[in-house]
Amino acid sequence: MLTIDNLEKSFKKNKALDCFSCEFEHGIYGLLGPNGSGKTTMMRCICDLIKYKGKIDCGGAKIGYLPQQFGMMKSLKLFDMMKYFATLKKIPTPEQDEEIKRCLELVNLYDKAKDKVGSLSGGMVRRSGIAQAILGDPEVILFDEPTAGLDPEERTRFKTMLKSIGKNKTIIVSTHIVSDVEAVCDKIVIIDKGRKKFIGTNEEVAAIASSKAYLVEEKFEGILSGNYYIKDRITRNGENYLYVLSDIPIENSIAAQANIEDGYLCALKNI
Ligand SMILES: Nc1ncnc2c1ncn2[C@@H]1O[C@H](COP(=O)(O)OP(=O)(O)OP(=O)(O)O)[C@@H](O)[C@H]1O
Ligand SMILES: [Mg+2]
Repeated sequence: MLTIDNLEKSFKKNKALDCFSCEFEHGIYGLLGPNGSGKTTMMRCICDLIKYKGKIDCGGAKIGYLPQQFGMMKSLKLFDMMKYFATLKKIPTPEQDEEIKRCLELVNLYDKAKDKVGSLSGGMVRRSGIAQAILGDPEVILFDEPTAGLDPEERTRFKTMLKSIGKNKTIIVSTHIVSDVEAVCDKIVIIDKGRKKFIGTNEEVAAIASSKAYLVEEKFEGILSGNYYIKDRITRNGENYLYVLSDIPIENSIAAQANIEDGYLCALKNI
């Protein structure tokens, strides 16, 4: 459905994308990576907004795109902004109003259709960006940090919407927040420093950290060795513990059940 082959993009001497190859089938993909890892750059390449080296092939599919920064056209009414995008997307005029209604309803904004974009809250503007991305029912949809600024209820609504529109499409959702992608994505692509680190299901990502997650009493912090990462500090029964990811077994520790975030961190830290 969408094939990326040896994608490279440099900004002067800074390699934002480095030999990035990936096959995206139908399904919902979480593109997970820290700040500056190349998520936005990759999406901009797929949309042909910037020049790059390598090959991107989506077989001529229509692409919907929510940019990380979305929020222009503040003086337009929300409905008119959607009309503008519908026209750009060449949606036939008689079908536009119905399609705009469908998309605004999916993001819970139809009651704001007559309001000016400039009068909407930050989270609502984000949702209006999601609505324009899905307008015209594209086969490939790229959401760059769609949940940034959304309250918990709207985050959940977004996940539900993804599930409902995700059939027979390729959807890529970029984020650095693991909870945004677990439960909703079929596969997770971990990107770091412009390179693909890992691709797999939720379970496969969690498995990267299997037998590598430990609870260690704080007083043993000094004995930690090898490649390790202190992910958290917690209190249990009045005792202070470190939640440690380690590539070697830790003495005097309690083995923890590794989760997706642990797997993601192990992939990033080469643990
Ligand atoms: N227009 C640009 N000019 C120069 N450097 C850029 C430009 N866009 C991105 N970069 C650089 O490319 C690298 C990747 O940036 P990118 O925005 O793709 O990361 P990201 O994964 O989307 O990060 P974030 O989670 O912060 O959104 C960074 O080092 C960034 O500084
Ligand atoms: Mg970005």
